[in-house]
Amino acid sequence: MSSSSDRTPPLQSDAFVLLVSDRPSECAALGRAIAFVIHCRSLGPGDAPGPGRPVFAILDLAPSRLQAWVRQLDARSPPVPRLVLARGEAGRPDAHAVVMPTSASRKAILSKAFAMIEAATCSAVERTRRLRERAQAAKGIVSELFDSAALGGTLTRSELDRGTEIVLAAVTEVGISNWLAELWRHDAGVYEHTLSVSGCCAAFGGRIGLSRVDLARLARAGLLHDLGKARIPREILDKPGRLDANEAKLMRRHPELGATLLTAQGGFDPEVIDVVRHHHERLDGTGYPDRLKGREIADLVRIVSICDVFSALTERRAYREPAKPAEALAIMVQTAGHLDQDLLSAFAPAMLGCEPFVL
Ligand SMILES: [Fe+2]
Ligand SMILES: [Fe+2]
Repeated sequence: MSSSSDRTPPLQSDAFVLLVSDRPSECAALGRAIAFVIHCRSLGPGDAPGPGRPVFAILDLAPSRLQAWVRQLDARSPPVPRLVLARGEAGRPDAHAVVMPTSASRKAILSKAFAMIEAATCSAVERTRRLRERAQAAKGIVSELFDSAALGGTLTRSELDRGTEIVLAAVTEVGISNWLAELWRHDAGVYEHTLSVSGCCAAFGGRIGLSRVDLARLARAGLLHDLGKARIPREILDKPGRLDANEAKLMRRHPELGATLLTAQGGFDPEVIDVVRHHHERLDGTGYPDRLKGREIADLVRIVSICDVFSALTERRAYREPAKPAEALAIMVQTAGHLDQDLLSAFAPAMLGCEPFVL
């Protein structure tokens, strides 16, 4: 006997399948059948894909049109799975595609499509559940780290490593856009900001091919970069408006406070302490606290600075709307002199082209 808890979860109301075909009558017939179980967006080969992320796509196109759509679907993070109705040659095997001949019966194509809808929607629900759990667990770890730092207690290195692993696993599995979308469901406080910066570090480090050890160090530096804020009074941290001059002066002490705290604890990489102390330095020497310039600022620091600025711009604040990733990057590329432009040009593509699936 089945209970309500072990039934397949219902399809999300905004979930849809993308059907792209250059055969209008076949497209209409497939679209009508698919619409019995899930919303179907039917397009011609020259149409724009439109907003949102499809749970999967059906591509029924001549080879000359097919590749452009495959590239678009692969550019999403993670890539969109698809059912390709191949004309003639089956083409190269592809990790994200199931290939059937166009000559297959409509019944065979629909039964494959329904099986893919079932797999994709169930796994999307499961991925979202796992993502929520990870975000909650990571937030709990960060809040304990900050509490320990505020009270002068010992930072538990194993918990910090666990937090780092959670961020890396989440970003690897669902992509940076979904990690950020999950964090942004809540008002962005210092914990969400920390997890957002660490997530951007993980996505960026993965994109530029860092080793596992370097990737973990970078994500850990992201988690710790603002630890000094644990020593800033809560009413300043949570102030729902701009800080006055005295409050801003105190806030600007957080890099030194964080670095001092980690140095006193012992056992932290000097590179990570460097990030904590110097993530507000600018290449042109106008940053703080040490007014470092150019090559005096290490690469690890430069990367975290980029992730920090991107996160700050894209987070909701009481006094302004969050910038969209594209808007934030447009602002950042104009701040030549502050951020490393070469690193920024590697960072920007990692943050674009991703539609979150988070429910
Ligand atoms: Fe900071
Ligand atoms: Fe920060």
